[in-house]
Order: sequence, then structure tokens, then C-alpha cells
Amino acid sequence: MGVPKKFFAIFGVAAGILLYLANSAEYKLPTAENRFSGYPADATPYTAAVVYLVSVMPGTRNPDQLLQSIPRMEKNIPWRYRWPIVLLHAGMYDAVDNQLDFLSRLRDSANAQNLAPEATEDLLRRVEFVATHHELPEGIPADGVVDGPIWNGEWPAYHHMCAFFSYKIFNHPRIRDLTYYLRLDDDSYVREPACFDPFEYMHVNNKSYAFRDSPPDMGWVTEGMWPFVSNYAQRHPEVERTLERNGFEWPPNRLWPQRFGEGVNFPSYETNFDLVKVPRFRTPQMTEFLHELASDPKRFYWYRWGDAPVRFAEVNMFLDVAKEVHRMCEIPYAHKDRPFEDCECVPLSG
Ligand SMILES: *[C@@H]1O[C@H](CO)[C@@H](O)[C@H](O)[C@H]1NC(C)=O
Repeated sequence: MGVPKKFFAIFGVAAGILLYLANSAEYKLPTAENRFSGYPADATPYTAAVVYLVSVMPGTRNPDQLLQSIPRMEKNIPWRYRWPIVLLHAGMYDAVDNQLDFLSRLRDSANAQNLAPEATEDLLRRVEFVATHHELPEGIPADGVVDGPIWNGEWPAYHHMCAFFSYKIFNHPRIRDLTYYLRLDDDSYVREPACFDPFEYMHVNNKSYAFRDSPPDMGWVTEGMWPFVSNYAQRHPEVERTLERNGFEWPPNRLWPQRFGEGVNFPSYETNFDLVKVPRFRTPQMTEFLHELASDPKRFYWYRWGDAPVRFAEVNMFLDVAKEVHRMCEIPYAHKDRPFEDCECVPLSG
């Protein structure tokens, strides 16, 4: 009668082993069918992705901070839809084993941050490894650092990064058809629960750009940017009008071509949090400007222009700042462990 105790004992041990195996098993990549890369067309009113640039040069880069940032972003934002998390890498995740290892560690990190097991598995399915290589442009020698660029730290990785986010990203095959992307850096994180989904905020309020903070960038790394923007505006009266309407402020002596703006800080949007409505950065007018920006690679590779002041210029030259731009201080955010100043978060209605 009944089942012998011995059976329970064996069963118990076996179950224990299985549970142990399940928890410690290497992560397996989802099959093509249950891998998530976006909603079918028309299933959502817009498309979006969270984007991290995880490596710029060949070789590996320590993912420890990224492994912290992703689960914090996932759990602290009340996502209306679940979007892909696109990791742009320069080859370090070409090997499937490296992807599996990363996902396995991400699962551990998500568990450690108390993400529910189903939420964790769902998160892992949405991670996409997208190889993106960065070449030195024509005219910039591989040993360009011996020419003594304005700033040669992390040459040329940092310079690649600035050029990429300033203009190349808007034409990246994984990005260009999205409605929105939110760029975060691996040392960016959402500190505490936010009261709305940033993409949903953009959609509901018809915004085109959101930033988290706007400090000026130093004059010595924006050399030539004032005259560049000024000349462009002079040749494009609609840009001049937009800048004026946006209250864009010039340094003194704008019409005195020599040394205009020299050493003067350029305003910027701090792009470690960069929320972009992509079509607004793909208009013919913006595209024409981006071509001109790219036409002299020394801007990025010698003068070390950053994507933060460039983003400020783009937004102020082509967008209606009062209507289209939002300082998203509602999202409790930190960069490099520096908490940003927050503001009250009012939930979206409807
Ligand atoms: C939404 O913003 C765009 C500019 O990005 C503007 O052209 C459009 O008229 C706005 N739509 C509404 C309904 O306000």
C-alpha cells in the first residue's frame, strides 16, 4: 500500500539535482521562433529599442557595469511594451559562446536584483548582439595619435564613439527604421522606480528628443564648432530662424570671422541618456547637415568634437525645442554613480 518512503527519498534527491541543474545550467540561446526582435508591424503604435554601445574596438571589454545597468533599467521602468535591448559590439560577441556566457551572467545579475524569474527569461530573450565595426575615415591615419590630436585619450575608440552617435547611428540598419531609441551607457542606470515608460511619454506627448541633463562642453574640445554652426545657419535661412526661435545664444562677434567662439564652451545634452525620435533625425534637412558634419573627419578625430554638443546643435538647428524636447528629469537616473537631480514624476494619463 502507498508509495514506499524510499521512492520519496530518491524522488526528492532527483528533484533537488534537477533544480540545481536548472539553476546553474548555462544559458541556451532561444530558438529563432521564440527569440524576440520586435513586435509585428501594426501591433504597437511605434517601435523602439534600448541601445548600448558595448565595444568600439576589436577585443573584449569588461561587461560588469552593463550587467548591472540592464536589469536596473528593466525593473525600474514600468514598460508599456517590452522592447529589444540592442548591444552594439565590435566583435566581442561574434562567438556564440561569448553571447551565452554574457546571458548567463545577466541572468545571475537579474536574479541578484530580484527580477522575477519569468521577467528575467523574457529580458534575456530580448537581448540582441549586433556587430558594428568602426573604421577610421579616409584622411585619418591609423597612427593619427602621433599627429597630436587635441585629446588623445582612448584614441581612436572615443573618437569613433563620438562620430557614431553624432550621425552614423541614424543610418545604422538596426536603428534607422525604429521610431525611438533610448541610448544608455554601461555606466548609466535607473536608480529607482520611475512612474512612466520613457517611450510612451514621447509617444503620448509627441516629443522628438529627451535628455536628462544639459551641461556645457568645454571650449577646447569644441574648437571650430561655433563657426561651423554659424556658417551653416547663414547659408540656410530656415536653420537661422529655427535657432533664433529656440533662443540659441551665440558668443559675441558672430560676424567677425576670425576666432569667433574660440575657447568658448558649447552647450550640450549629456548623451549618456539620449532618447531620440529617429525620423526627426532623418529628415532631408537634417541629413544634409549630417553629411556636411561628416565631410571633415578631423572634427571628430582631431578636434575631438563630442556627440553631446553636436546633439545640442542638431536639436536646436532643426527641432522646435519648446514643443519637441523634454528634459526627462522624472526618471531617477545616475551616471558613473553620480545621481542626477530628479523632478516630480506625474504618471501618464490614459
Ligand atoms: C507632432 O510633432 C510633429 C513634429 O515632430 C509635428 O509636425 C506634428 O504636427 C505634431 N502632431 C501633433 C498632433 O501635434
